[in-house]
Amino acid sequence: MKTQSSPVALRPLGNTGLSVTPLCIGGAPLGDMPETFAYSAPEEQALATVRAAFASPINFLDTAAAYGDGESERRIGIVIREMGGLPDGFVLATKGDRDLHTGDFSGDQFKRSVEGSLRRLGLDHLQYVYIHDPEHSTYENVMGAGGPLEVLQSFKEQGVIGHIGMSGGPIKMLIRYIETGLFSAVETHNRYTLINRSAEPLLDLCAKMGVAVVNAAPYGSGILAKGPDTYARYAYQDAPAEIVERTRRLAAVCQEFGVPLIAAALQFSVRDPRVTTTVVGMTKPERVQQTIDLASLPIPNELWTRLDAVGYDAVDPEANRFA
Ligand SMILES: NC(=O)c1ccc[n+]([C@@H]2O[C@H](COP(=O)([O-])OP(=O)(O)OC[C@H]3O[C@@H](n4cnc5c(N)ncnc54)[C@H](OP(=O)(O)O)[C@@H]3O)[C@@H](O)[C@H]2O)c1
Repeated sequence: MKTQSSPVALRPLGNTGLSVTPLCIGGAPLGDMPETFAYSAPEEQALATVRAAFASPINFLDTAAAYGDGESERRIGIVIREMGGLPDGFVLATKGDRDLHTGDFSGDQFKRSVEGSLRRLGLDHLQYVYIHDPEHSTYENVMGAGGPLEVLQSFKEQGVIGHIGMSGGPIKMLIRYIETGLFSAVETHNRYTLINRSAEPLLDLCAKMGVAVVNAAPYGSGILAKGPDTYARYAYQDAPAEIVERTRRLAAVCQEFGVPLIAAALQFSVRDPRVTTTVVGMTKPERVQQTIDLASLPIPNELWTRLDAVGYDAVDPEANRFA
């Protein structure tokens, strides 16, 4: 039986000087995104979740300008204002986004995006800002003169932004950005889970470079949390029959060991030394303590070997979609 190290002990976020917990609260579903998650998150419930997060030993919250087209940040901002600011030692990360209506991914749009985040959150400083989902643009545009990166760098020089990271889908694309050495953290999602491990080469690269890995969606957006027969969705889409069947097999193996599938799914990420923090999406206040408890549950080493034997995807579902 492996003894878990504390899921709330602080560790460095790459070379930023910031310290974060190995667990991070994911703010996408807090923005009420029924088209993404197939259910709604009422405002009061979302606010209660943010309050629970701020009151907990977890010190890291992840959002984006795009989540609910500003709604996640707006709701988080309500609680920040209620509290008169972020709690001491808390780290809030957000993301600069394209215009969701026109697809505009220009530097000017990123300026508007950052200004919108400051306004909605009620802050005059953003500790951490990622470039979000650059698969919707080209490398040349993102990195070029007057583009999103230059705009964020200029905000950083003015002290408006603390640090800049990269977040997105396709792993080859993320590797290309991280290799530039210009980003202190990378946020990958749905690609380092019990079902898909295609982020492995990115994790290895970041470990070598000292770049923080922020591993989002350990439950594959829900199937590994709620179970294949309750919520058969992976990465924001109906899960293919083969994934539903494989998840049932993973759950059956977990059951043999008396371990809930959700705990194994969470710890698969949290226990990996290459992962700095694991981002768990949630819309209910009780999830915060549940997540700490799930990350602390003792899991026998043999379970990991048995879960490996069930098999996993090593191919990035968007392998061919990168600039
Ligand atoms: N491009 C990017 O940078 C990117 C992409 C994807 C995700 N992210 C970030 O990563 C976060 C996590 O990803 P995600 O939210 O998409 O997926 P996820 O963390 O894999 O799963 C979220 C789902 O798990 C459920 N859940 C959480 N804890 C639970 C518990 N204890 N019991 C039962 N169900 C539980 C939530 O349900 P309830 O609503 O019922 O709590 C929600 O439906 C996002 O919120 C976002 O902040 C970033």
